[in-house]
Amino acid sequence: MLRVVPDRTTADALPAEASAKHLYYRLLQDASTVSTEARRYLETRLRATNEHSDELPEDPQALYEWSRACSAQVGRRYREYLDARRAGAPRRFFSCKSHALYFLRGVAPTKMVDGAWLYGLLPHWRDERFVPLVRTYLEELGEGRPEQNHVVLYRQLLDKQGCADWHDLDDEHYVQGAIQLALAAHAEEFLPELIGYNLGYEQLPLHLLITSYELNELGIDPYYFTLHITIDNAASGHAQKAVQSVLEVLPQGKAGAAFYQRIKAGVRLNELGASTLSVIGAFDLQRELVRVLQAKAQVGAELHSDYCCIGGLSVNEWLREPARIPAFLRCLEEEGWIHRGALSEESRFWRLIEGERAAMFGVFSGYERQLLRDWIMGGTPREPSFRARQKLMGETASRTAPTEMTETRLEDPACAAEALNSKELAATLMALMSPAQHHTPAGLAATRRFAHLLQQR
Ligand SMILES: [Fe+2]
Ligand SMILES: [Fe+2]
Repeated sequence: MLRVVPDRTTADALPAEASAKHLYYRLLQDASTVSTEARRYLETRLRATNEHSDELPEDPQALYEWSRACSAQVGRRYREYLDARRAGAPRRFFSCKSHALYFLRGVAPTKMVDGAWLYGLLPHWRDERFVPLVRTYLEELGEGRPEQNHVVLYRQLLDKQGCADWHDLDDEHYVQGAIQLALAAHAEEFLPELIGYNLGYEQLPLHLLITSYELNELGIDPYYFTLHITIDNAASGHAQKAVQSVLEVLPQGKAGAAFYQRIKAGVRLNELGASTLSVIGAFDLQRELVRVLQAKAQVGAELHSDYCCIGGLSVNEWLREPARIPAFLRCLEEEGWIHRGALSEESRFWRLIEGERAAMFGVFSGYERQLLRDWIMGGTPREPSFRARQKLMGETASRTAPTEMTETRLEDPACAAEALNSKELAATLMALMSPAQHHTPAGLAATRRFAHLLQQR
């Protein structure tokens, strides 16, 4: 896998107007209104990659070998990880369940636009050189089947784990998503960078294997991640298609060398912003719990009765001042509202939050309750893994029931007209297959129809 040297100072020095979060949502809303900003953003981000290094071969013809060698190395390192775990080593990534949920939430802006950069290549669907990447995009979209659409799957995972409230994440978390959407909006202009970005993104990383293993261990459905282990494989999957596309699009001679340098810059774009490893490494249970309580306090500061006094202050007085939250937690502990190190159910404070007729029922999301629980108990008690639980329940299907399929008729009336010629039809379908829409019933139906067109071209 790629090993690059991140340089945070370069990325941090970007001008304030280059807000990834702002651009991300604007690009999803209507990319045409932020075309100039998106171009500028990409240019700035590409300059930031100059400080990074990569391990791509100098000769592009060696890319297949490089990709397979990366994959084999990941396999060896994963074997070492499994051996260590079997010998009793603790989890490498997730200290507790809320740590895993923090990760799922932290990478949500990237996962919710999974595959977006390839959208910009759809207009080239009749050009054989681009077919492998168009196919990759369709596979990211599950070819229109909701149970295989990566964005649908990730959304379901977040919902099921009580992590759907991720929109308050800071700018760093939106960098990868903004890059992906900006590449989609400027595919023609940044074609080598887009192909390079895809090459870097689709290689199998070790963290994907470890993440899948540890999510399952913590009782969380790892399907979204295991799906990527298989679908991105270097023998026939997205990693292989990524290399194939580089070689097919690369011009001959001198132009080829310059094009390849731009491909490399595109590969390095993968290293900017928050990543799987940086998100996992940033977790601090106490700090995250305080952050959540401070955010809650903004809403709940005046909603409590003054009946109850803790450490000499009413609950409203504690919540009115966000800086008091750590002291509030200490007081709750000292005055016996919370018994740390014991089962959460033994804490009076916990019983206010969870259970029938709990006074604060519905105030905290699933993720927030898990944080508090892990904080009280000092970790997550060992429970059956996700797969073991599925087996116990005798179920083969592990995931939430897929979204209803919308068959044949697209919601857009323009598509219903069978008289459309294939060019017009393709254009209409493509509009519905944008990163903002492909996971909606209309988008899924359009994807199925487009996949059929691609087969018949
Ligand atoms: Fe994906
Ligand atoms: Fe992929």
